[in-house]
Amino acid sequence: MIRDLGNGFELDDDPARIDVASVHRFLTEQAYWAIGRPYELQERLIREATRVVGVYRDGSQIGFARAVSDHNSFVYLADVYVDPAFRGHGLGIELVREMVENGPLSNRRWLLHTSDAHDLYRKFGFAEPDFKLMERPVQPPPGGNAGSGS
Ligand SMILES: CC(C)(COP(=O)(O)OP(=O)(O)OC[C@H]1O[C@@H](n2cnc3c(N)ncnc32)[C@H](O)[C@@H]1OP(=O)(O)O)[C@@H](O)C(=O)NCCC(=O)NCCS
Repeated sequence: MIRDLGNGFELDDDPARIDVASVHRFLTEQAYWAIGRPYELQERLIREATRVVGVYRDGSQIGFARAVSDHNSFVYLADVYVDPAFRGHGLGIELVREMVENGPLSNRRWLLHTSDAHDLYRKFGFAEPDFKLMERPVQPPPGGNAGSGS
């Protein structure tokens, strides 16, 4: 699927098109949840994702989102970003819309974590969970570091 957004911008869910180095550079340097994430891990997360959506400007990667699902109970949305130079023009909304509403996973229960983008996700039906949802946080190994969240 390629969706033309005009002005040289497009969305594409072809995993082979993802510029792994570009995605890794952004996430590891600028995303609070992925600082220091090893390249090999980022490569695997993309390879094993149920669906990835890239945002491209004149063919260059400027945004990304990744979803993981068991195709039954849940979909987890992670690693959503738009390059700072292109923010504030609706690309983030279209990226999340494409992933959540237009794709093959649209009729599943979606989960995510966010520190500050709640209102972005509210536009697509995300809300604080009710009492049925429980979470087991990362358990720090004795004397070691906790793993990363998303
Ligand atoms: C979040 C992000 C993807 C939004 O991309 P964007 O292209 O600037 O977003 P849009 O222009 O489509 O607008 C996003 C909408 O969500 C709203 N929003 C809510 N919280 C937001 C937040 N923390 N950051 C950006 N937008 C936010 C905006 O106000 C806007 O709504 P509006 O059009 O009604 O004003 C981008 O700011 C980003 O990459 N941030 C850093 C990474 C990040 O925090 N990702 C989310 C992790 S859960």
